[in-house]
Amino acid sequence: MLYNQAGTFTNERISMSVTVVVGLQWGDEGKGKVVDLLAQDADIVIRSTGGNNAGHSIINEHGKFVLHLVPAGIFNPNTWNVIERGVVIHPPSLMKEMQELRSKKVSFDRLMISPDAHLVMPWHIAEEYARKEEQQKYGVGVEIGTTLRGIGPAYQHKAGRTEAFTVADLISRDQFIQKLEKIGAPILAWLKIRYPNADTLARLTLDVIRDEYLEAREYIAPNIRNTRQFIRSALMSDLPILLEGSQGTLLDPDFGTYPFVTSSGVTASAMCMYSGVLPQYVSRVVGVAKAYITRVGEGPFPTEMAPEDGFRIRELGKEFGATTGRPRRCGWLDMALLRYACEVNDINEKLEIAFTKMDILGKLEHVKLGLYYENSGNHFDVRSLDSETPVYAMLRGWGDLHRIRSHDLLPRDAHAYLWEMRQHGGLCWPINYISVGPERDQTILSVGA
Ligand code: IMP
Repeated sequence: MLYNQAGTFTNERISMSVTVVVGLQWGDEGKGKVVDLLAQDADIVIRSTGGNNAGHSIINEHGKFVLHLVPAGIFNPNTWNVIERGVVIHPPSLMKEMQELRSKKVSFDRLMISPDAHLVMPWHIAEEYARKEEQQKYGVGVEIGTTLRGIGPAYQHKAGRTEAFTVADLISRDQFIQKLEKIGAPILAWLKIRYPNADTLARLTLDVIRDEYLEAREYIAPNIRNTRQFIRSALMSDLPILLEGSQGTLLDPDFGTYPFVTSSGVTASAMCMYSGVLPQYVSRVVGVAKAYITRVGEGPFPTEMAPEDGFRIRELGKEFGATTGRPRRCGWLDMALLRYACEVNDINEKLEIAFTKMDILGKLEHVKLGLYYENSGNHFDVRSLDSETPVYAMLRGWGDLHRIRSHDLLPRDAHAYLWEMRQHGGLCWPINYISVGPERDQTILSVGA
């Protein structure tokens, strides 16, 4: 039941114009390319969670880019791009990202930033460095291997409520300065007592922060708008909307490999929640999975490759963090985890898969595919993966796929891999895209395999 224009109830159908792109692994699945492809048909692209811990690599007619906070629809002059309330924004980083894109003639006339998004403050970043140092020196707490972008401490302050800053705080210059003095001063003083040996904290002063944030404020303030109203109207008008995911399902704090996860929800439903898009509007969920898996940071990884294969794939697939440059750990595709991630994200039973980097995996002579876990089969606990031993199918590599654009023309060994994923790996969701290279057109479409 909906209100119609006249404010009375109506039984009109609910529009289903929303596509969600979600990572099905530990991030870095190649979402950037998929979002860039789908953004061409979207009137609105929304980034709803995470921060500049994310790094979406995109190659298109404008050049080669890594986006951290700016939604990927920014390259299309007719698309509106929204940074929604679930995102944590580090204003100086957003400013830098916008400046770099502007220098390549990208326009920001159609970027909207929710006033309710939270800010990453310099003390969040400094605290994360200090925690890491303490962890390494004294073994205090769990080593997660974060991106050191202040994401965890920023979400901690959001949940704590009394010491958080939001984009709305940037609207008035004077009020921002007042709040910085009132709230920032005691936070800094306390952190300096808590971490007396932390260099990054010792160097931090309110004056430095004020200047840095006021400069960034000038730059981004014109893009602060009432995004809720805008999204609501777009839904009512049936406009095609794309929710752009960051990180991946296994990094979700509730459904991932906790505590080795990020701090914001990253599943398809979390994206709906943090953009104010009710899940019933979702007509497609495109889950992105790589033909092998990578993970940065610490945490269990049942199908992690032996060092020789890991090294080879890392070099072939350029598996180094888009945000931090860290080498990614590499592993074989794990069907138990893939099935799990598909189940978690299958809103309205509309999940389909975009399968990426199949060209890279095929370059190995021998390929393994994790089918299920020896002990627990399908009934594993995602928080206890350390105790799992995968059972593998052994297959042959399929060679170069760069020039292939049709499912039928895939080599026999590539078909064998896809068949094995279904037949013994239990995959029952369609694979509708296969990516065979980084360029937009290196994509096999509508496979339905
Ligand atoms: P944080 O999000 O910086 O707190 O990091 C927590 C964990 O999530 C670490 O293991 C990071 O490496 C991982 N992580 C966060 N963002 C990404 C991403 O965009 N790709 C891959 N891993 C990520």
